Amino acid sequence: METNKEKFMALLKSTNREGVDNIIQVLEDMGFFTAPASTKFHLSNEGGLLQHSLNVCEMALGLRDLIIQKNPDFESRLPKESVIIASLLHDVCKSDIYKETMKKQKNKDGQWEEVKGYDVDHGQYPFGHGEKSVILLLQNGFKLTNDEALAIRWHMQAWDLPFQSYEAKGNFNKAKEICPLVQLLITADGLASQVLEGK
Ligand SMILES: [Fe+2]
Ligand SMILES: [Fe+2]
Repeated sequence: METNKEKFMALLKSTNREGVDNIIQVLEDMGFFTAPASTKFHLSNEGGLLQHSLNVCEMALGLRDLIIQKNPDFESRLPKESVIIASLLHDVCKSDIYKETMKKQKNKDGQWEEVKGYDVDHGQYPFGHGEKSVILLLQNGFKLTNDEALAIRWHMQAWDLPFQSYEAKGNFNKAKEICPLVQLLITADGLASQVLEGK
């Protein structure tokens, strides 16, 4: 049976994007393929980030098909390779932030026991979330279209927006207006993390 890592690599390589082999090696070195997706929310286990990225990609590709059924114009406005790239790579910023630790937790008999868990450490590169994903990809020679970069940059709007400046809110609204991939990625990410992967 195909592993998640094989699925991820096959999907990403199917885009034929320049720099794809190198970025897979960079992700490997950063720990992307073994990292959890969170410390205690969704998929907080080894390989969780990889599973989440695949879930978002499948969700986004399904939503793309639905939108195109309703209006064929979106076939070109939402290129398949852009949907794959933005969704598989939106959270690469998380590859190196989780550190394994032992945590105390009550078991079902009410007794404390030590279980494996994760802490967050942004010490390596405290650059933000979506913006860190974009910069990591570009710095490592992986070419992104403007739409892909905008979608990855703004995918966390639901969490970040109340704390953003007036200018940033304006940029986010403009990004959604000119780039349908922004809302597609936000929706696919929310459905995966909040519904599919919810506890
Ligand atoms: Fe994210
Ligand atoms: Fe995500």
